[in-house]
Amino acid sequence: MPLNKTETKTDKFSSSVPASNKVIISSNNNQNISRRVPFTVVEAYKTIRTNLLFLLGRSSNHVLTFSSSNAGEGKSTTSINVAVAFAQLGGRVLIIDADMRRSSIHKKLKLDNSTGLSNVIAGFCEYKDAITNYNSNLDILTAGPIPPNPSEMLGSPEFDKLIDNVKNDYDYVIIDTPPINVVSDALVIAPKTSGLVLVVRTGFTPYDSLEHTISSAKFANISILGTILNGSNPTSSRYYKYKRYNRNKTYDTYNYKYEKK
Ligand SMILES: Nc1ncnc2c1ncn2[C@@H]1O[C@H](COP(=O)(O)OP(=O)(O)O)[C@@H](O)[C@H]1O
Ligand SMILES: [Mg+2]
Repeated sequence: MPLNKTETKTDKFSSSVPASNKVIISSNNNQNISRRVPFTVVEAYKTIRTNLLFLLGRSSNHVLTFSSSNAGEGKSTTSINVAVAFAQLGGRVLIIDADMRRSSIHKKLKLDNSTGLSNVIAGFCEYKDAITNYNSNLDILTAGPIPPNPSEMLGSPEFDKLIDNVKNDYDYVIIDTPPINVVSDALVIAPKTSGLVLVVRTGFTPYDSLEHTISSAKFANISILGTILNGSNPTSSRYYKYKRYNRNKTYDTYNYKYEKK
C-alpha cells in the first residue's frame, strides 16, 4: 500500500483525518466541540490523541512539534484540533504558534496577535502575560509580530527557557511550526520536544516532497512520532495518493522570503 512509503523506522503511528477545513472548537463557546464538524472528523482526532497518549506514556516531556513538507497541508488546522482533543481530557493544554512568518492560529481562533511568541523570546514580556486563555483547559500563545530573524529566535536560549517553563506548567503543549522543506525552524524546535508529528495532505503533498522532509528529519536525528494523513477520503480512489510535481511550485504563494532552500 503506498501509504507505507511514508513510514520510517522512527514513525510510530499513522492516522488519517477526513476532509474538513474546520477547527473543531466552537468559536463562540468555551468548551464544546463545534456542531459544524462531522462526527468522523472528531473521532479521527480522538484516535490521534490515543496514539499520542500511548507514545508519550510516562515521559515527562509532553511537548509535540507539528510540521509538514510545504505550506497549506493542514499543520495549523491539525495542531488546533489535536490540542482541543487533548484539552477535552481535562488537563491543561497550550498551543504555541511558532510559524512567526506566516502565523495563522490567531486567525483561525479569532484572537488578537499584537503580543505573542516573538515578544516573549525578545524579552519584552513574560510568557504568561502573552497567553490567551481560550477556555479553562486550553491556552494559546499566538505568534506575535513578525520578527526579522525568526530562525535565530527559535534557536535562542530564551526559546529553550520558554519550552522548559511550559513543560512544567502544562500537561500537553503543541507547537505549530513552518514547513520543513521551506525553512529550518521545525528542525530547530523538534529536538527540544518529544518529537515530530508530520502532517501529510492527501492529493496535495508530493511524494518526493515528503521523502525530502523525512530525510531532513532523519539527518537532524529527530524522532518522527507519526504521520497524520490529512483530508483522507476512504471512499475515494485518491485516498492514499500523493501528488507528484515540481516541489518548488508549492511554495509560490508562501511568504518565506529569506530562507528558501
Ligand atoms: N482536511 C482538510 N480538508 C479540507 N480543507 C483543509 C483540511 N485541512 C486544512 N484545510 C484547509 O487548508 C488550508 C491550509 O490549512 P492550514 O492548516 O492553514 O495549513 P498549514 O498550516 O499547513 O499551512 C486552510 O484553508 C484549511 O482550512
Ligand atoms: Mg500554518
